[in-house]
Amino acid sequence: MSAQLPACQLLERYHGERVELCPIAPPEDAWLIARSAIMVSDSIALRTAWQARDKRDQSPFDTRVDPSAGQVVLFWPKAHQLGVWWLDWLCQVLPEGTEVEIVGEHQGGIKRVPKFLEARNMRCDKLDNARRCTLYSTRTVKGADPEDVWTRFAALELELVSHPGVFGHGKLDEGTQLLLEQLESRLGRAPLEILDMGCGDGIITAWLARRGHRVTAVDVSAFAVTACRRTLEANGLDARIMESDVFSALDGERFDMIVSNPPFHQERELSYGPSARLIEQAPRHLNPRGQLLLVANAFLPYPDLLQSAFSSVETLADNRRFRVYQAER
Ligand SMILES: C[S@@+](CC[C@H](N)C(=O)[O-])C[C@H]1O[C@@H](n2cnc3c(N)ncnc32)[C@H](O)[C@@H]1O
Repeated sequence: MSAQLPACQLLERYHGERVELCPIAPPEDAWLIARSAIMVSDSIALRTAWQARDKRDQSPFDTRVDPSAGQVVLFWPKAHQLGVWWLDWLCQVLPEGTEVEIVGEHQGGIKRVPKFLEARNMRCDKLDNARRCTLYSTRTVKGADPEDVWTRFAALELELVSHPGVFGHGKLDEGTQLLLEQLESRLGRAPLEILDMGCGDGIITAWLARRGHRVTAVDVSAFAVTACRRTLEANGLDARIMESDVFSALDGERFDMIVSNPPFHQERELSYGPSARLIEQAPRHLNPRGQLLLVANAFLPYPDLLQSAFSSVETLADNRRFRVYQAER
C-alpha cells in the first residue's frame, strides 16, 4: 500500500517502509495509519479511523504523549496559529531536544515554518522537498505555555472562550447571529432538549443554556469541545458537552430541536459530508414534531437534502449571504 496524500507521499519517500511514526494532527491516509505507532489529533473522527486499524490514539488534552513510540511528525495545519500551538504543545509534552519533523503542502503555508521556528529559537533543517510539499526537522526547546493562546471575547452578553483553529476564532459569525435572531422568536417554553451540532466555542449552547434549555453540545474537535466547556464555565452555565463525529456519540438519543451552523470545509476543501450526514440522520434524532434549524451560506445545496429527509422545510431568513432553514419531521 502506498501513501495517497502528497505530504504522506513525501514521508514515504524520505523514510521508506521501516520507520514507525507518531503523526500529530494528521490527515487520513491508509499508508500513514499503517506506519503509525500512535497518533495525536483533536479530531474524534480521525482518532476513530486509527482505532479502527487497532492503532493507539490520543487527544492533545490527554496525558503525556509517548515520544519513544515513533518519530514525531507534525502535519502543519492551514491555520498557522494552530500550527504554532501544536509546536508549543510538543515542546511542553516532549523532553527537551526531542526531534520533531514538520511536513506540509506549499499551498498550505509550510514554507513559513522556518520563520515560526526562528521566532522560538528552534533549529530548522530541511530534510526533503517533493510533491509540492516540504519536510523540516527541528528539536523541542523549553518554550511558551500552550495555555497562553486561549482568548476571550464578548458577544451577545456572553463571554466566549476560543482557541486557534476553533471556528470564528475571536468573533461572532454572521450566520450564527442570523440563526439566533430566528431562534429567539421560535423557541418553545424552556426547558426544551436541544442539540447544538458542531458547537465550536459554544456560542449557541451558552445562548440557549442562558434561556433555561437543556443543551447537548457536540463537536468533532477536542479544541471546540474544550472551548465550549470553558465558555460555559466563564458564564456560570451548564450543558452536556461531548466529542462526536456528527451523531456518532448520540446513538438512540432524541431531541426536541437540533440547531446547527454546520461545517462545510475540511482544511481548504469544500466538504459537505458531515452536513449531509447531519441532515439525513437528524429525523432519527428528533422527537415527534421536533425541528432542525440550520443556517448555511446561500450557495450551499442544502434545500434538496432537507427536502428529501423531512416532510416540511421552510426558509425562515435569507440575507443573500446566509439562509436559515427550518425542517420538521
Ligand atoms: C461553522 S462552525 C459553527 C461553530 C459554532 N456553532 C458557531 O456557530 O460559531 C461548524 C462546527 O462544526 C464542527 N464540525 C466539523 N465537522 C464535524 C463533524 N463531523 N461532527 C461534528 N462537528 C463537526 C467544527 O469543528 C465547527 O466547530
